[in-house]
Amino acid sequence: MKTAIALASLAAFTTSVQAQYFALTAVHSGSPIHFLPVNAAGGILQLGGISTHYCPETVQHEGGCPNTVFTNFLGGNGGLSMGALVPGGQVAYVDPKCGAVKYTEPHSAFIPVGATTDGFSFTQGSSFGILSWGEGFIACNDTGDGTWSVYAFMPNVTLPDASHCLGFDAVATNETKAAAWEYT
Ligand SMILES: *[C@@H]1O[C@H](CO)[C@@H](O)[C@H](O)[C@H]1NC(C)=O
Ligand SMILES: *[C@@H]1O[C@H](CO)[C@@H](O)[C@H](O)[C@H]1NC(C)=O
Ligand SMILES: *[C@@H]1O[C@H](CO)[C@@H](O)[C@H](O)[C@H]1NC(C)=O
Repeated sequence: MKTAIALASLAAFTTSVQAQYFALTAVHSGSPIHFLPVNAAGGILQLGGISTHYCPETVQHEGGCPNTVFTNFLGGNGGLSMGALVPGGQVAYVDPKCGAVKYTEPHSAFIPVGATTDGFSFTQGSSFGILSWGEGFIACNDTGDGTWSVYAFMPNVTLPDASHCLGFDAVATNETKAAAWEYT
């Protein structure tokens, strides 16, 4: 019942605001990260792999669970949100200690002290958009499972040792619906 009400109010919200969802793909030609999708996984953004999602059974029974293994986003100017249906949403931020791009947990607005949420900018082109971060995005192969963690370059933060790091452009393509109920 609570969920039904939340779904109804969310529907009202998205119709009036006309939220534009977009997926992100890494572009760095001639490199191993070229064309890898940007996915949410275990609290960080990564290149490759599959998105880590959760959707409650009650919502599933109502047919409200997006059935994808991908991640998408909203906004990108003055704040990047995750394409999540969970009431309250989920917001991306840059970890002040390591520069990793992370996102808030469902049902929580907690962001670490010093974390940045507003350094992203979005430019819409005729066939795709670009999500930018001041001095660029970097991916490092530090996960150990073939995926790459996404970092936002910060001059005062040292990237992980003993890993291979590459800069990339984050290319955005429009999507019509949120890719997940919530990212875990
Ligand atoms: C790096 O700089 C940012 C922005 O000025 C700040 O929020 C963050 O705490 C700094 N991080 C470290 C590890 O000094
Ligand atoms: C993507 O969505 C934006 C905002 O709704 C729109 O301005 C743009 O034309 C769309 N791009 C494409 C390629 O459809
Ligand atoms: C990252 O890439 C470097 C260079 O290709 C490689 O030597 C290293 O083993 C990789 N690290 C991981 C964790 O896969």
